[in-house]
Amino acid sequence: MNETKELNIKVNPTSNTAITTLIMLANAHYDKALEILEKMGVEKESIFHGVDQNDMINRPSDIVRELRYVAINRTIEESGYKTLIDLPCGYTPKVFEFAEKGMQYIGCDLPAVINDFSPIIESMTDEEQKKHISFQVVDVTNYESMKAAADLAEGPVCIATEGLTVYLTSEETRQLSVNIRRILSEKGGCWLNADVETFEYYMAVYKAVAGDRAMELLVASRKGFSGQSDTDLHKNNASVVKDSGGTLAVDYKKIEARYRSRGLLVEKVPYFREDIKLQLFDAMTEEEIEKLKENMKHVNVWKITADPDFKEKGQDDAAGSSETIADPDLPFEVKSSLKDGLFEVSIQGRMDTITAPELLKHFQEAGEGITGIHIDVSRMAYVSSAGLRVLLIMYKSLKDKDGFEMTGINEAVREIIETTGFDQFFIKKENDG
Ligand SMILES: C[S@@+](CC[C@H](N)C(=O)[O-])C[C@H]1O[C@@H](n2cnc3c(N)ncnc32)[C@H](O)[C@@H]1O
Repeated sequence: MNETKELNIKVNPTSNTAITTLIMLANAHYDKALEILEKMGVEKESIFHGVDQNDMINRPSDIVRELRYVAINRTIEESGYKTLIDLPCGYTPKVFEFAEKGMQYIGCDLPAVINDFSPIIESMTDEEQKKHISFQVVDVTNYESMKAAADLAEGPVCIATEGLTVYLTSEETRQLSVNIRRILSEKGGCWLNADVETFEYYMAVYKAVAGDRAMELLVASRKGFSGQSDTDLHKNNASVVKDSGGTLAVDYKKIEARYRSRGLLVEKVPYFREDIKLQLFDAMTEEEIEKLKENMKHVNVWKITADPDFKEKGQDDAAGSSETIADPDLPFEVKSSLKDGLFEVSIQGRMDTITAPELLKHFQEAGEGITGIHIDVSRMAYVSSAGLRVLLIMYKSLKDKDGFEMTGINEAVREIIETTGFDQFFIKKENDG
């Protein structure tokens, strides 16, 4: 693995989850998924497990992924827009399906994925297909990167999201929706979010194939995926509540109200239609298929549009609080020095998945033998979980944690650090002396 790729994955390991999705689609007999895996150098034998009717771990997960893939593709097509912003695209074979339909396809993801995926697709497409396809490095918390992708679009856009929001913190999810509203207000179009009802479609599949053991098997399968990302660091469960019977449920009204308060309107489009056929139906019994159809009746993809009457507040607030946030327009910059084991660094601008590898590079280049770390964040405007991850790598590298000091923490950064629980590492308590 080259150095840049290694740094990119370290700051945001969630890119690994896209490979898992691809493997699952290969298992569901999507030939293009298999071809992409082969181009990535993944040995077919090592990943392709086939789908066995008795397999209660891999089979339901594979069905979930195919169901999501088929449902979102159909909803994109029905939206009628000519440009698809696939956010995040992962290593999806969707690119071929939409380019062949003559749609403009703009695949967006983190650098670790785009740097890999874009040359692979380049090598698999002819001149005619290439005319329809482009890729853009995007961190959904970074508006400028999203705007660069939207600027490639020739008209109004259909932004489609599957398999993203579970990897974001609540703050990152808020940023995503604010950025989406800005893009939709400028370009027109809609955002198809297949993630809001993730819990429902998982349960619909697991109940169809495992009945009363659905929850137990779902938990077992999630354990198998741990290690691909560190989302357990995140506190992204604000909308998960217990219903009157004590079972887990999601408060969808609350989520919808939150979108509305951010200038986004929600329409719910049924996830599954009677005539949808999954390739994995051949690995399911008639009874399971009927149950799945029944269970899916109440599950939706959320079709979200910008509220034309929404008045953005906060412009004035932001101007008035210039002392408590660093200037968000400052370009990202890291300055560092190493003297007598003390690594001193100052960070300017937004530290997210796109920019954080730069800090990690400075730190790694400083080499072994660091005994103290001082970080000046007074000009840091924002830090996403990728940035926090790099800070944590630095913190953990010290034997004596008292040697870690962060100074100039402005209010915006403090709030993020506190809500993610990282204050226990990075912020010294007053009475600690
Ligand atoms: C489970 S994959 C899904 C990919 C694709 N939608 C699919 O179904 O194959 C999750 C993807 O989210 C991307 N991702 C995670 N955090 C992101 C962020 N902040 N901005 C953009 N993409 C992100 C990861 O790189 C990864 O490719």
